[in-house]
Amino acid sequence: MDNRDAAITAPKKDAPETVRLADYTPPPFLIDTVDLYFSLDPKQTIVTSRLAVRRGDGVPSDAPLVLNGVDLDLRAVRVDGEKFPTDCIVADENSLTLKGLPETFTLEIETACAPEANTALSGLYLSNGMFCTQCEAEGFRRITYFLDRPDVLSKYTVAIEADREAYPVLLANGNPVGAEDAPNGRHVKRWEDPHPKPSYLFALVGGDLACVEDAFTTASGRAVAIRIYVQHQNKDKCGYTIDSLKRAMRWDEETFGREYDLDIFMIVAVDHFNFGAMENKGLNIFNSAYVLASPQTATDQDYEIIESIVAHEYFHNWSGNRVTCRDWFQLCLKEGFTVFRDQEFSADMRSRPVQRIKDVRRLWSGQFPEDDGPLAHPPRPDRYITIDNFYTATVYDKGAELARMLKNLLGEEAFRAGSDLYFDRHDGTAATVEDFVKAMEDASGRDLTQFRRWYESAGRPRIAVTHEPDGAIFLTQKTPPTAGEAEKAARHIPIKWAAYGADSGALIDEGLIELTETAQPLTLKQQGERPVLSFLQGFSAPVTLDYEQSVADRLTLMAHDRDRFNQWSVTFNLWRDLSLARGGVIEIEALDDTIAQFAEALGAALSGGDDNADPALAAELLRGPTASDLAQYCDVIDPDQIVDGRAAVRAAVAGALSGPLHDAYHRMASDAPYSPAADQAGPRALKNACLALLVAGGDSEIAERQAREARNMTDEAAATAALALSDGAAREEALENFYQKWRTDPLVVNKWLAWRALSPAPDALEDIRALLRHEAYDSTNPNKVRALIGVFGRENLKSFHSADGAGYRFFAEQILLIDEKNPQLAARLITLVENWRKLEPARQALAKQALEDIAAAKPLSSNVYEMATRLLKN
Ligand code: TRP
Ligand code: ZN
Repeated sequence: MDNRDAAITAPKKDAPETVRLADYTPPPFLIDTVDLYFSLDPKQTIVTSRLAVRRGDGVPSDAPLVLNGVDLDLRAVRVDGEKFPTDCIVADENSLTLKGLPETFTLEIETACAPEANTALSGLYLSNGMFCTQCEAEGFRRITYFLDRPDVLSKYTVAIEADREAYPVLLANGNPVGAEDAPNGRHVKRWEDPHPKPSYLFALVGGDLACVEDAFTTASGRAVAIRIYVQHQNKDKCGYTIDSLKRAMRWDEETFGREYDLDIFMIVAVDHFNFGAMENKGLNIFNSAYVLASPQTATDQDYEIIESIVAHEYFHNWSGNRVTCRDWFQLCLKEGFTVFRDQEFSADMRSRPVQRIKDVRRLWSGQFPEDDGPLAHPPRPDRYITIDNFYTATVYDKGAELARMLKNLLGEEAFRAGSDLYFDRHDGTAATVEDFVKAMEDASGRDLTQFRRWYESAGRPRIAVTHEPDGAIFLTQKTPPTAGEAEKAARHIPIKWAAYGADSGALIDEGLIELTETAQPLTLKQQGERPVLSFLQGFSAPVTLDYEQSVADRLTLMAHDRDRFNQWSVTFNLWRDLSLARGGVIEIEALDDTIAQFAEALGAALSGGDDNADPALAAELLRGPTASDLAQYCDVIDPDQIVDGRAAVRAAVAGALSGPLHDAYHRMASDAPYSPAADQAGPRALKNACLALLVAGGDSEIAERQAREARNMTDEAAATAALALSDGAAREEALENFYQKWRTDPLVVNKWLAWRALSPAPDALEDIRALLRHEAYDSTNPNKVRALIGVFGRENLKSFHSADGAGYRFFAEQILLIDEKNPQLAARLITLVENWRKLEPARQALAKQALEDIAAAKPLSSNVYEMATRLLKN
């Protein structure tokens, strides 16, 4: 209280500032230890922090200490136990500056914050009455004044005091080290984390929670207690999370030689969360959607996602926590590598080819549009206004592709050696992307100079294949310009390929060509038969292939490609091209005949029977592109052409394959008690892919029956979704039955919101506006916002992009409303129009207007400001 009014207050800045990688300098002060005391109260929480601070080497002795702090009420500052003179303190909106400090000192700061008023879900906030924190990337500064940057690593001790009855469970990072009573019905719990960490990995939880316990013994014999904390009613929905965690812990020991390093590992589920989950040291905090599952309420896909996110956050304990990031430009160092690690884990747990297909579909639908629009940026960006806006598909998913390419270039052993070297060299420090690449280089002896361009440059190479008249084959690479980066140098690109006989389908030749020049020849073994080429096997590099192949050759690959990924991708691309042709976007000769041939080839893939049959893979072949997938491949997007073309081809294929689809549907059905494991999930995926096509072909009865008789959520959701996407009379009834059955389970209701958002009805937007006031919706819960508005904008092409612009006006209005409360969420949602420039001219003008309205609004968060201006920039 002593310093608050007296401290000098600096004037407000207006335009948000740009942070540049080139400006990086090491921290002028270091903080060796942090002791925090929290007195929790929803309205006013008091935080007392005691920091052991020392000036960095070579930093001038008159350099001030500038701490970050946002929305904090400063109450006291003491240096070495003495009240600090107020004329040496300058506080502004974002910082606290202290002048005239000694070389080393103990700094005590007392602040207050208001968790109840925190709707941004960054810092300390309440979710259903429980205290929780989210500090990545810059949330810790909303809890206390600090050097809130990832290269300041400190040892933390934390004491949490709160009302004993309302908040019996009080958690922080590390190991529990004490508990005591406090006056007025309060109590205190003490925690200590022995591992130095950056502030973004700090976490605290306080609430009335159930705890589900288990145990794990590490390879070297360390006993680890596993504790999952959830709301009491969800106590019996944590089993799969625990199972996944234990498998992930074992896998990381076996595959990367990484062991867990504390006595306890905790996961807490919260309903209000901006992301999937967060890897806070020893205390992961999860969006409850990625913790809670039961056969009745979660689909196979939900189980799969839980497994991968649990693994992802666990793997961060090494790739992110033990070795952290020097600055936020290095984000893909931890995220790209960790996504790669979780993808490999899932591939080992399930069908490897299907996992690869899913990872690549995600890359295509999420990352390729970034490359292709105004938000294009390198996996390691070099500037930002708000780092929250760079938790992107490019950083995560393209980052993972770069790690995968390294593994394929170096080979399994050298890659593992590189990973070991990286972890050994940089353990306990804040590292850079360069450190990672250097470790790979040193361990393998390979020169990765040219490979580094992948990290530094935006956009995606296009690989063209040309056949010269003399039979020679050339591969050329060219990366189209992106904003601010006109010229692109050639990259190091591994292209895996194979050649099959056009008549026999037999493998003629195969190899891996490393492109490093703009053009390179490819020489095939001499053979009598004409070769049919299959490039980018396993999707060996994140590039676009420009290669015109005849439909006949593509059907040959569909039947004979031994690379399961390419067999799928040639099928997916045929689905795509046939749909676009049917919609009038592109031209294909003799379209009806071609669709018939395609359906026949698909039927052959379906018939199963062979020993290698992988039903999950067959399901992927049947799935084909969504409408928003198709939009990506249009130079000019016209939603009607896309949606109608897709529906017509699906109906035609379903008609042609009605018999085989019904057969497969029944063959895949099972009476066994539900298990989410791959051996059951695969057949269910195929069964439900057949169902979706049959309904697309007009047979809604089969779905109505399945919806009625389903004994698990996978089957119930598949049937309801299929009906929800049809515009028959069964639609309303299916949705209503589902809602009445599940209205008290918020996670299940999110599925329902998403289906409502997909409504094919012409008045879908009216329906969605009405849902904003429905008991099932809550604009403060990001899961609900994403289920309704996110799905509407991404997948309901006809209504969101309605020709009168009503969808865009709704979008602008919602972005601004959400921005008032949760800027991170609003800024993420705005990417729904990231490719507005590809819309046909009339819609393009309307979408632009919506973006301009957003950009001009006041007040506007710097998050949304940055996104809107990047989107509008020429
Ligand atoms: N590090 C988290 C992950 O990928 C991401 C994350 C969780 C996050 N919460 C966030 C990022 C809030 C930005 C803001 O595992
Ligand atoms: Zn992550």
